[in-house]
Amino acid sequence: MPSSNHLSAPVYRVRVWDLPTRWFHWLLASAVLAAWLSQGDSRYVDIHVFVGYLFFGLLVFRLVWGIVGTQHACFRNLAFGGHALWRYLITLPTKQRQHFLGHNPAGSWAIFGILGLGLVIAVSGILTLGGENQQGPVAGIFNFAQGETFHLVHKVTAWIMLALIAVHISGVIIASVLHRENLIRAMVTGVKQCPTEQISVASQAPVALVLLVVVIISAGGYFRGYLTATPDQPYLPFVGTTLPSNALWQEECDDCHLAYHPSLLPKRSWEKLLATQQEHFEENLGLAPEMIATLRTFALNQSAETAPTKTAWKIYRTTPASESPLRITETPYWQQRHQRLPEEVWKHSEVKSKANCDACHFDAPQGTFEASAMMVK
Ligand code: HEC
Ligand code: HEC
Repeated sequence: MPSSNHLSAPVYRVRVWDLPTRWFHWLLASAVLAAWLSQGDSRYVDIHVFVGYLFFGLLVFRLVWGIVGTQHACFRNLAFGGHALWRYLITLPTKQRQHFLGHNPAGSWAIFGILGLGLVIAVSGILTLGGENQQGPVAGIFNFAQGETFHLVHKVTAWIMLALIAVHISGVIIASVLHRENLIRAMVTGVKQCPTEQISVASQAPVALVLLVVVIISAGGYFRGYLTATPDQPYLPFVGTTLPSNALWQEECDDCHLAYHPSLLPKRSWEKLLATQQEHFEENLGLAPEMIATLRTFALNQSAETAPTKTAWKIYRTTPASESPLRITETPYWQQRHQRLPEEVWKHSEVKSKANCDACHFDAPQGTFEASAMMVK
């Protein structure tokens, strides 16, 4: 262990961090920053999800590298107990402070904390995406409500990790000042200066190169849709949930307007609407009883109570059980989501009616109504 006395100019330059460890560190930091900036805005969901996968992949890489990597990157060399952390922290302000060539106990704890929390964040993010958006590897397994629960876990752990990162950054600055060594630069160059001769770790450049190439190829693959997008065929990364459709429903219900997906109203509304089909908004649908039976089965199986989309869930949860609205546009959720739109929008020549959903929502025929599938009017 080199001495903490740095009064004489250090002589030896020693490589402490191999290249993959450094690139991992800065890629992870960028992924966290990008995830933070892109969170909570539906326009950037695809960026958020991509950096989430990147973050997950980097964590997995680091777990492997912590086993097979070079000396100071290895977990077995930074397994400091609580006692070591305590001793490091209480001696830090004194002259007895301990200097470490690799990660000090506080840095080691930051690594364990960030890796552990990071895994919870990544997994809960994937579960949120599956439940709330019916996208990603676990699509179709969880419903919207379960997705919301995962979302809460995702948010809370993400904020805890950001707090931990703030502590980590402060720690790096404090330790840099006290030990008179620039730890941030060391994480860029990999090199620290030592008063005694120490063995440099191997650079491991080929591993770092493979890491970078994998990241670049994944990003290219993930965002390739932007390259082929045209105004007629816009790139809609988060329109993908496919709700079941029904040929008879499609045929009978799309003559006068969009064939609204049954997930947009609760069961009781569809019962009432089909029972009153002879006076359907001043039209007589004239449906034969066996047709009504088929339509009814489809509607009840795919109603707001059962469909897995956010829209279905919200409509179901906000419509009072005592009411059976015949209009989607009368449901509290619909009204709440559209109240901010100015009156003249509804009179626009391409809109005309509030019920003309597909004038503004690309995915209206599918019934998903993803926030990212909006046309700007
Ligand atoms: C003959 C024409 C016609 C057919 C066929 C038709 N509808 Fe309608 N429907 C209307 C009219 C007219 C309205 C009122 C539209 C408006 O206010 O803009 C309406 C409105 C609706 C609404 C309310 C929209 C809202 O939220 O304001 C629902 C739901 C609906 N229809 C369901 C159906 C279903 C289900 C079928 C097939 C079984 C169907 N319609 C077939 C004419 C029709
Ligand atoms: C004039 C354009 C327009 C029409 C027509 C329209 N919407 Fe919307 N809708 C919007 C806009 C704009 C928003 C976003 C509002 C906001 O976020 O403040 C929105 C939001 C929504 C959302 C919330 C999406 C989310 O997850 O945030 C749903 C669901 C929705 N609309 C359903 C419908 C349905 C169903 C119809 C037809 C019955 C319809 N909309 C008709 C413009 C329209």
